[in-house]
Amino acid sequence: MRVLVVGSGAREHALCWSLAASPLVKTVRCAPGNAGIARDAELVPIAAEAIDELVGYARAERMDLVVVGPERPLVLGLVDRLAEAGVRAVGPSAAAARLEGSKAFAKALCARHGIPTAAFRVFEASEQAAARAFIEEHGAPVVVKADGLAAGKGVTVAGTVEEAVAAVEAAFGGAFGEAGARVVIEEFLEGEEASLFALCDGRDALLLGTAQDHKRAFDGDRGPNTGGMGACSPAPPLTPAMVERVMAEIVRPTLAAMAAEGTPFRGILYAGLMIGADGPKLVEFNVRMGDPECQVVLPRLMTDLGQLLLGAADGMLGRMSARLYPTHALGVVLATRGYPGPVERGSELRGLEAAEAIEGVLLFHAATRREGGRWLADGGRVLTVVGTGTSLAEARQRAYAAVDRIDWPEGYCRRDIGERALAAASEPKAGG
Ligand code: AMP
Ligand code: GLY
Repeated sequence: MRVLVVGSGAREHALCWSLAASPLVKTVRCAPGNAGIARDAELVPIAAEAIDELVGYARAERMDLVVVGPERPLVLGLVDRLAEAGVRAVGPSAAAARLEGSKAFAKALCARHGIPTAAFRVFEASEQAAARAFIEEHGAPVVVKADGLAAGKGVTVAGTVEEAVAAVEAAFGGAFGEAGARVVIEEFLEGEEASLFALCDGRDALLLGTAQDHKRAFDGDRGPNTGGMGACSPAPPLTPAMVERVMAEIVRPTLAAMAAEGTPFRGILYAGLMIGADGPKLVEFNVRMGDPECQVVLPRLMTDLGQLLLGAADGMLGRMSARLYPTHALGVVLATRGYPGPVERGSELRGLEAAEAIEGVLLFHAATRREGGRWLADGGRVLTVVGTGTSLAEARQRAYAAVDRIDWPEGYCRRDIGERALAAASEPKAGG
């Protein structure tokens, strides 16, 4: 089959790499992709949010399957438009993508269907005084979230009442544009964070894997929030028993709820979780793979990704299973200095071939450009360097050995990816 992957990050590189290895897949194309992705897919010069052009291309080129990486085209209705054009796609409709596109929608769905999540209230911009009163009554710590898509920047975990009130004022003052026109104020959850990825076909769900992200820019979870600076899979808090609880208490009830409300969820459901003393609670849903989580989840997937995605698009997952290798993967993101702020483009990365020559190492490109045989950085997050191995320690050792072979003075990375997970290694084995 002919597959078109939409997006241009290291997540999409991992998707293309995995699909290129599928015996079912003859052609992999990526719109718009990047220079690194060009090693695994043919690039198509159409932006990920150019919905009309993507639909026209997929139909004209008779693509058998479109796989959408990022959230924005999903929220903009790319999958609905592809369906109207008779093109099969993996990803939710715009209505189902509200699970990520509106935190208020996701929380209200949880409340209606008894899905465990932090207690919350939603406030409109006209209710600023009520929001303030609520925060004062509730006290800190408390979490303030812009309702809509804010590129990971819309959440404030406030340690004081003043900080929470300031976050509400910032949102209503337009700091996140339309996304901040409503806010969700919710209870602070204690526990260990972990994420679970489930492939869904509207009715059934299969576990693709689990991972732990590292969102802050610097070591020791300090510095500004980013899209993610590294990840490891599996996530230690998600033991086999805990994975089963998350599937039974959160993922399957969500699928049943979405189907019952007339907006069945098809695609990849990313459940961001807090694992506390009384079990798993939902922190947030995303309606796509995580980045960098995808880069550590897919190398551990034994079952053919092409077959699984086709099964999801065709509603056949109930008759299928997904098997994972009992291995570990750890990914370190290399970013241009200055990220997540503005960065300069065009610095050279040397040593990529040497890094890739290490056994068990994979390089997924997020923002690179090829010029005269040289690799140049072309954005904030530039590469994810993944180490795989039979233990987390081995995966980590390989990933950092590869990082150390890359000569790029203008870049930086965290040196502590997976440290928390390693500290938890004496605990029972993770199941996803
Ligand atoms: P989100 O964008 O919803 O994933 O939130 C970003 C980060 O804020 C999460 O990864 C958590 O670390 C933290 N966070 C969000 N909601 C809560 C909560 N209710 N309690 C504690 N931490 C939270
Ligand atoms: N790494 C977090 C995300 O993809 O949302």
